[in-house]
Amino acid sequence: MNKNLVVAICGATGAVGQEMLQVLEQRNFPYSKVIPLASSRSVGKKVTCKGEELSVVELTENSFEGVDLALFSAGGETSKKYAPIAAKSGCVVVDNSAAWRMDDECPLVVPEVNPEDLDWHKGIIANPNCSTIQLMVALKPIHDEARIKRVVVSTYQAVSGSGQKAIEELENQVRRLLSGQPVVADVYPHQIAFNCLPHIDVFMDNGYTKEEMKMVHETVKIMGDPTIKVTATCVRVPVFYGHSEAVNIETEEKLSADDVRSLLAKSPGIIIEDYPEKNAYPMPVNAAGDDATYVGRIREDETIENGINMWVVSDNIRKGAALNTVQIAETLIERDLVRVP
Ligand code: A2P
Repeated sequence: MNKNLVVAICGATGAVGQEMLQVLEQRNFPYSKVIPLASSRSVGKKVTCKGEELSVVELTENSFEGVDLALFSAGGETSKKYAPIAAKSGCVVVDNSAAWRMDDECPLVVPEVNPEDLDWHKGIIANPNCSTIQLMVALKPIHDEARIKRVVVSTYQAVSGSGQKAIEELENQVRRLLSGQPVVADVYPHQIAFNCLPHIDVFMDNGYTKEEMKMVHETVKIMGDPTIKVTATCVRVPVFYGHSEAVNIETEEKLSADDVRSLLAKSPGIIIEDYPEKNAYPMPVNAAGDDATYVGRIREDETIENGINMWVVSDNIRKGAALNTVQIAETLIERDLVRVP
């Protein structure tokens, strides 16, 4: 492994950026230097990685000189502007925003699912949407075994997916409500504490939200199969960390619940937690801070011939964002692809 990589973290003060620094440390990522970048508001703030205190530097057009790899999580507009500048200066970008996901020139990668797509990168690699990543980890083995025809997914998504401000908004609203004070909603259009909002990202002309359509389009791109049909309902729930998904899958070939359990148990990145007799099933409070995608409540859909229902939970900030981004970077190193063609 190349230990001399210079790595920039764009958005190092944000919820995902902070987690990226932790993941680099925990996985002992091989770098010689980490440069934390954020807006001018954060210049001089301190972040730490591998025990070293680092000063945040302002992201500018010159930030990427001498940088080999940049991990971006500073919003779509920042990525649109700076990722091409970084790639042009020879720095490989792994971008956590939605800016490049559906671009034909950019691979969209979950390392357990389609690492080979990294081989055709041209400088910018996209990290999928958080709710798509955990779904892909759980669906790929089933698709390989029995060919998935259709997926109906309902998500229960944590506020950390909307960034640090949303985490603080939920905290503040809970405090205020419990002390009898009126709440202030700023990040979300409505109160999120003790509530559920069937609204993530903006509404589209077809009545779906952008988040729901991301799951539809990203699934097809990652699986490389335009025949898989996905329909989604995405809901924001008052959970801090960890997205949950109720997933209904229709397959071409028959799989029993036991088949799915043993198939997923030996698949990368998955832990089966499916012991109803012990009230044991995946939950966001247990998945938070963890790397795995947890699958439970596996049962046959008795209303169709070849159907499975299951419940999939993962930490949206880790596997759904920071961890998947760092795993992409590790896979680039393994495949000797940390260079802009
Ligand atoms: P800053 O803290 O200086 O605003 P989150 O998703 O948790 O809200 O974090 C967003 C991250 O993206 C933060 O690190 C934020 O930096 C950074 N960011 C947002 N806008 C810009 C920008 N225009 N230039 C550089 N960094 C940005």
